[in-house]
Amino acid sequence: MAALAARALCLADAGPSHGEVLQDIPRVSRHREEVQRGARFAFGENWRLLVDGIDDARIHAAEASLRAGLGVDSLMGKRFLDAGCGSGLFSLAARRLGAEVVSFDFDPASVSCARVLLERFRPGDGGWRIAEGSVLDEQFLATLGEFDVVYSWGVLHHTGAMWSAIDRVAVRVAPGGTFWIALYNDQGLPSRFWLAVKKTYNAVPAFLRPPIVWIAFARMWGPTLLRDVLRRQPMRSWREYGRTGRGMSPWRDVVDWVGGLPFEVASPEAVVCSVGDLGFDLLTLDTRGRGYGCNEFIFARRGEGVAGRGGVVGEPARRG
Ligand SMILES: C[S@@+](CC[C@H](N)C(=O)[O-])C[C@H]1O[C@@H](n2cnc3c(N)ncnc32)[C@H](O)[C@@H]1O
Repeated sequence: MAALAARALCLADAGPSHGEVLQDIPRVSRHREEVQRGARFAFGENWRLLVDGIDDARIHAAEASLRAGLGVDSLMGKRFLDAGCGSGLFSLAARRLGAEVVSFDFDPASVSCARVLLERFRPGDGGWRIAEGSVLDEQFLATLGEFDVVYSWGVLHHTGAMWSAIDRVAVRVAPGGTFWIALYNDQGLPSRFWLAVKKTYNAVPAFLRPPIVWIAFARMWGPTLLRDVLRRQPMRSWREYGRTGRGMSPWRDVVDWVGGLPFEVASPEAVVCSVGDLGFDLLTLDTRGRGYGCNEFIFARRGEGVAGRGGVVGEPARRG
């Protein structure tokens, strides 16, 4: 892990209003067809199995992760876009921190999960809106307006067109706003190996998938769990996974890792250069090296902003 840069985060007061135009844009859903032919993992089905287990501890972990990344205690008065919201956990966390939140996902089941969280934890809350849409759909994105924070964690590498997705969603960041993305690291041969695993997982009949997950689980978690046993703290890392970090479930994350297709990877250098060319400065970078997680990048969009209107709101926590 390496922290390359840290600088004041500037967040804009408000982007153009999206008024009441935020609604599901009629479109032929490619999603089901892609899942049926094994080209796409059914992410939302996996999130469905997480949503029931989302409790205060997980929500607090998600909030802590946002607060640490953005270097703020509150998002009051800020607009937050959760692009590829998955379960909706981070939308909920941002809303609880005071942001006006817009969430969307390409997978209808993910959208349903976010709606379940809205109903369960924020019933009737007009400050959190949820839609079905794609980060590749410029027309849809244009209806959303601009945001002080655009958060797209672990999403853009699952679109099938990662670089276009980065370009398109970056445009939604208001001048001076924050762009937080997490992308799989390019590990060369191991990345190609995992791509083959993911293709296999999605191509085989459903009853053959659990053994693939168990083998991957043994590879991914075996050494850590063995170390816990040797330290006389069996399963400690497993138990702490949801309470620390991002508040996710370790088993759901294993399934997401094994199944997650489409799958693209990027080196940190390529991402920093490419997003820099779009008019962003890097604030923080966490790299995962040979691990399974994502590299995390937090950028600030250059431009007027924010310092004049809303002021600097925080200093992202240094990591690593
Ligand atoms: C690994 S999950 C991450 C979910 C969430 N951002 C999080 O941090 O937990 C990836 C999500 O990206 C969504 N996704 C994939 N392609 C997308 C696209 N073109 N537009 C929007 N969301 C997409 C998937 O449906 C899935 O819910």
